[in-house]
Amino acid sequence: MFLSRLGLRNFRNFEQAVVEFPERGAALIGDNGQGKTNLLEAGYYLEIFRSFRGARDEQLITFGCGHFRVEGVLSDDEGGAEVEVAAAYAREGRRKKVILDGREPGRMGEAIGHVSAIIFTSSDVEIVAGGPGARRRFLDIMLSLVEPGYLPALQRYRQILSQRNELLRNGASLAELAAWSAGLAFVGSRISEARARWIAARGASFSRYYAAISGEREAGLAYLPSVPAPDSGGERETSGWSESFHSEIERRADQERRRGLTLVGPHRDDVSFWVTDGGERLQLRTFGSAGQQRTAAIALRMAEAETLRAARGRRPILMLDDVFAELDAQRAERVVELLMAEEWGQVIVTSPKPTEFALLGNSLARYRIAGGEVAHL
Ligand SMILES: Nc1ncnc2c1ncn2[C@@H]1O[C@H](COP(=O)(O)OP(=O)(O)OP(=O)(O)O)[C@@H](O)[C@H]1O
Ligand SMILES: [Mg+2]
Repeated sequence: MFLSRLGLRNFRNFEQAVVEFPERGAALIGDNGQGKTNLLEAGYYLEIFRSFRGARDEQLITFGCGHFRVEGVLSDDEGGAEVEVAAAYAREGRRKKVILDGREPGRMGEAIGHVSAIIFTSSDVEIVAGGPGARRRFLDIMLSLVEPGYLPALQRYRQILSQRNELLRNGASLAELAAWSAGLAFVGSRISEARARWIAARGASFSRYYAAISGEREAGLAYLPSVPAPDSGGERETSGWSESFHSEIERRADQERRRGLTLVGPHRDDVSFWVTDGGERLQLRTFGSAGQQRTAAIALRMAEAETLRAARGRRPILMLDDVFAELDAQRAERVVELLMAEEWGQVIVTSPKPTEFALLGNSLARYRIAGGEVAHL
């Protein structure tokens, strides 16, 4: 499937735009601040029904307007079947509506993931170089898209966490906390197990992509869960995780009550990105160069793309927002080689510098974006 048409109405700086994309993909050129990222934000909105930049829905409405609407048409690779995905949001009453092939799905969870897209953005370095929250957010969005039950577990976990924190703040006794601690262990172990399983399954892909782009260096991912990982580390080890949660909650009970805060659980997980240098493992977060951090972020997105492809059984659409900026010429070329490999679907790429598209072998249709208007070149 590929995105054959994208329509925007009152979305960011686009009052009205309709863009037709060919199957192979598109290169979007435009000066700073013209709407390149906004256009991809609209396209990816149809995948997760929220902004990939973490913006609130009302911020996506064109200044001075009351609502926005985004519509996408996904066409079959053979040009046959089509799927229509649309989303609308009104400031008044904060109403969000999602439409799949003319029908409103019962739950939002049913609608997400239909576009099957991955977005590579310049802010992805934050996942590697920023605080642990960015890494958890990455895992949560991806696993919500591919892992049945992950999103409901996450939503339940957030409720439990806020209730439990409230009780701790108010000096609740251990007995009063017991039910919430059990819930935390139960739901938390699902989340941790899924995160651990993903890193175990795709860590090698990350390493492979990192090596392919950098042309050297061994790199890897490691899960740093807030509770000790069960010994076996095997598949579907939810029971092992649950035991680990229970003993850690017990061990830190006094500390939690003193601080009035839940200190155990997946909301305190982290992931480490490392490269080897002279046999030593260096943390990319603290010691990586800008280019190395960017390389790791791209390798991570490719591992995500591989995950999505496996889960959906089709080639994902790759959206790249100005990701070549910090890469040296060789790395940029290797990224392009990986992108042009058969195993991905349509590629939609943006840059303020048309010269960067030369790397892509001029194989993509070109569009110019200026002041919220799109013109085919
Ligand atoms: N809700 C909104 N309504 C109208 N305009 C908006 C809204 N939100 C953002 N903009 C405008 O969109 C523009 C930024 O667009 P965008 O981030 O897509 O730029 P870009 O082409 O990706 O630029 P760069 O090359 O710097 O990344 C800004 O000028 C901003 O004022
Ligand atoms: Mg941009």
